Amino acid sequence: MPKIAIKPATLAALKAQYNDELNNAHAYEALAIWCKKKNLKGFGSYFHKQSGEEREHAEKIAEHLLDRGETPETGALAAPKTEFSSVMELAKLAQSMEGVTTAKINTVYETATKEGDYPAALLMQWFINEQVEEEASMDEMVDLIGGATCAGSMTSLDRHIVKILSKGGE
Ligand SMILES: [Fe+2]
Ligand SMILES: [Fe+2]
Repeated sequence: MPKIAIKPATLAALKAQYNDELNNAHAYEALAIWCKKKNLKGFGSYFHKQSGEEREHAEKIAEHLLDRGETPETGALAAPKTEFSSVMELAKLAQSMEGVTTAKINTVYETATKEGDYPAALLMQWFINEQVEEEASMDEMVDLIGGATCAGSMTSLDRHIVKILSKGGE
């Protein structure tokens, strides 16, 4: 019996979030592939890196569950969207994905708080901060794409996008 038994609704919420993070990783990889195919190599590497970060998020939750004597369950992943009419459409999808993730993270936090599961609530605080960065990056990306009005400026943006969006460190 673990010393700090996880509360039931919190357990269910963390298990669901674990799979959501893996789904996000899968979805970002699909965006990376589309960009690479369109010769937007900078965007391709950015989304590939994002995919890796989402896997790390999943791992953080998995480690928390394991430390508390629970088993994270790797469920089936949803097939992500793979076709886009423009890089703007793709960026807007990433932006809305992060918005949905923020709402889910907030719900997990609320559940843990309501149940008095303080370790899970603290874990979610890290995610809440992370979402501030994730949403800011995607908002900035959408703005930058909107401002890249000619092929030349898009090429330049593609060349610098990884650097521009990693200013915060990660
Ligand atoms: Fe995430
Ligand atoms: Fe994310």
